[in-house]
Amino acid sequence: MSKNVYLPYHATSEKAHIKSMEQYREMHNKSLESTEQFWSEIAAQFHWETPYDINNFYSYNFNVTQGPVQIKWMEGATTNVCYNLLDKNVRNGMGDKVAFYWEGNDPEDYSKITYKKLLEEVCRFSNVLKSKGVVKGDRVAIYMPMVFEIVIAMLSCARIGAVHSIVFAGFSSDSLAERMADCKCKVLVTADSVYRGDKLLNIKSLCDIAMDKAKSFGHEVSTCIVVRHLPRLHRSINTSNGTNGSNSDIIDLHSDVPWTDGRDYWWHDEMDDVEPSCYPVWVSAEDPLFMLYTSGSTGKPKGVLHTTGGYLLYAATTFKYVFDYHPGDIYWCTADIGWITGHSYVVYGPLANGATSVIFEGTPFYPDNGRYWSIIEKYKVTQFYTAPTAIRALMKFGEEPVKKHNLDSLKVLGSVGEPINPEAWLWYYQNIGKERCSIADTFWQTETGGHVITPLPGCTPMKPGSASFPFFGVKPILLDESGKEIEGVGEGYLVFNKPWPGMMRTLFGNHERFQSVYFSKFPGYYCTGDGARRDEDGYFWVTGRVDDMLNVSGHLMSTAEVESVLTEHPDVSEAAVVSRPHPVKGECLYCFVTPNHGVAFTPKLSSELVKKVRESIGPFAMPDVIQHAPGLPKTRSGKIMRRVLRKVAVNDREVGDISTLADEHIVEELFKNRPEKA
Ligand code: WTA
Repeated sequence: MSKNVYLPYHATSEKAHIKSMEQYREMHNKSLESTEQFWSEIAAQFHWETPYDINNFYSYNFNVTQGPVQIKWMEGATTNVCYNLLDKNVRNGMGDKVAFYWEGNDPEDYSKITYKKLLEEVCRFSNVLKSKGVVKGDRVAIYMPMVFEIVIAMLSCARIGAVHSIVFAGFSSDSLAERMADCKCKVLVTADSVYRGDKLLNIKSLCDIAMDKAKSFGHEVSTCIVVRHLPRLHRSINTSNGTNGSNSDIIDLHSDVPWTDGRDYWWHDEMDDVEPSCYPVWVSAEDPLFMLYTSGSTGKPKGVLHTTGGYLLYAATTFKYVFDYHPGDIYWCTADIGWITGHSYVVYGPLANGATSVIFEGTPFYPDNGRYWSIIEKYKVTQFYTAPTAIRALMKFGEEPVKKHNLDSLKVLGSVGEPINPEAWLWYYQNIGKERCSIADTFWQTETGGHVITPLPGCTPMKPGSASFPFFGVKPILLDESGKEIEGVGEGYLVFNKPWPGMMRTLFGNHERFQSVYFSKFPGYYCTGDGARRDEDGYFWVTGRVDDMLNVSGHLMSTAEVESVLTEHPDVSEAAVVSRPHPVKGECLYCFVTPNHGVAFTPKLSSELVKKVRESIGPFAMPDVIQHAPGLPKTRSGKIMRRVLRKVAVNDREVGDISTLADEHIVEELFKNRPEKA
C-alpha cells in the first residue's frame, strides 16, 4: 500500500457496519456472484404488496447489437415507495421521530417535521393532486426552494404513482419551459418567492414566463400550485411541528404575485379542503418513480428516468453503508433537492432508513461564512455531505470561522459532484473532521441513481482524491480506445457491463437516445462519460469527463448548450466554449466568440453575452471569460480543435501539433487576443 493513506474512523468506531476490507470484499463478491440473494435480503426489509420472484429477480441487456437495451429488477412485484418511507416507519413506532429539521435562509427561521406529520401532509397533498386530475403515470413538475413542501410534493407523487420531474429552482425560465414541454407535465408545483442570502427571488414570476413559453412549444400546464413561502419569513417562528404555521400571523404580501385564475391555486387553500389520509397506489417495481433532467452533450437536456423497486433498494442501501448510518444519527446533505444528490440523499435514502436529517434553505455565506459550521453545531450533525466547490470556497476564509464552532458530533464527511483535489480533501479532513472522521468521496451520476464508487467509513483506507472502490453490486471496468478491457494499473474509459438496482432505465420518451448516448460507443457496456485510473492498490481515481461536458461547481453542462445560447445573439457568428481550471468552481467557462462580419467586439457585446447565458441557462452557468476570436482553429474538415482553445484559455503556448488546421495563424491571433484580465 502506498503512503498517505488515512483510516481514522476505523480506529475510533467499533460500531461501523462494515468493519474491515475483508468484510467489504466478502460482501462485494457476494453482491456480484449471488446478486439475487444479496439484493433480495435487502428487499425483504421493505413492504411488497405483490412479492418479487427470486427466480426472476433481474434481467438486462447492455448490448445494442443484440437487441434493445433493457434493465429490469423485480419485475412483477408491486410496492409503493412513499409507503415504505413513511407509513412503514410510522407503523414501526417512529411516528414521533423527527424526519427533518428545517433551517431557513435566516438563522431565526427554523422548524421541524415528524414522520407522522410528514405522512399526514403527504396524504393531503396526494388528495390535492388527485383533485387536479393527476393519475398514475402523469408527470408533475416541481420548481421550488428548499422547504418541506418540496419533499411533500415529491412523496405525494410517489404515493399516487405520478412521476415527479424536479427542475432546480436556480434554472432560468427558459430551461424550466423546455423541461416542462418535454415531460408534458400536467401540474407545476412552486412557491411565491424565496430569499437566497439577502436577495429576494420571485419564483412564481419565472414560472409564469416559463408556462407561457411552454405554450409556445405546444404544451399547456393546466394547474400551478403555489406555496406561500415568503410570509413565513415575516411571522413569528413556529417550531412546534408544522409546515404551515398559523394563518393569523401571516401578513399578506401577495398583491405582487402574478396570478391566473383557474390555473393557479395556493397550496394552503387546497390543503385545507382535503382528507389527511390517502391510500397508496401499488405500482410495479418497474413503474417510473421520477425523472430528472441532466445536460446532454448535444445541448438538449436528457430526462433520466428512474423506476420504483430498484431505486428504493439502492438509495436505501448506499445511504446506510456509505454514511455508516445508525439510529440516533443526525444527517445533513447540503445539496439542493433539485439535483440527483438531493433526490437520493436528502429524501429517498434517509427516509428509507428512518433517519433524521437537516434541510437547509440558505447559502454557506449567509449571514456569515461560518453558517455551515454553526448548523453542524446547532443540530449536532453526525454525517455531513457537501461538494468540493463549497469546501474550496470556505477554505478561503481560513480556520477562524470553523474554530468558533464545536464540530465534535461529526463522524463521516461526504463529498460529491466532481473530483476533490487533495488540498481540499486534506483541509476538510483536518479542519472539519479534526483527523477523526472518514471522508466518503462518492463518485456517481444522475444516471447511476446512487453512489457507485466510494470509500466506506470504518473500512476503506482513504487516499485523498480517490473515490477508491466500487459499492456493492458494482463492477467498474476501464476500457482503452479500442474497447479492450484494461487489467490492473492503467487509465481509460470508465464503464460498467452489468446493472445495479438503482441505475436509470431509459431517457424519458427517447429510448433511442438512451441507447446511443450510453451504450453505443462500446457495445455491451454502459459508458459513464468519465475517465478513470486504477492504481497499484486497485483504487479508482476518476479523472473527469472525456466528452464535451463541463463541470462548474459540481453542475454538469455541455459546451454545446452554452455555445448555442451565444450564437443566438444577433451579432455573433460563431462560438466555442471550453473549460478552464478554476480555484473554487473546479472548472469555469471560457468562451471564444466570433462576431458577424463588420461587427466590432465591444465590452458591451461581451456583457450582453454573459447576461444572455445567465438568463437562458441559469446563474451557475455564467461564463468567466468571453474572448474575441477573429476565427476559430478548425481542421480542414471543419472540426474545431478544442485542445488548442484549452491551451489559449490557460495561456500555455505548448499547443502541440497543429499541422492539420486549415489556418495555423489563427492560433497566434488567439493568444494575442487574450483579454488582459483573463
Ligand atoms: C462528476 C452528481 C469525480 C463526474 C452526483 C460525473 C465526480 C458527474 C464525482 C455526474 C466524484 C460526481 N469524483 N467526479 N466523487 N462525483 N462527479 O449527474 O464527472 O450531476 O459523471 O451527478 O459529476 O454529475 P451529476
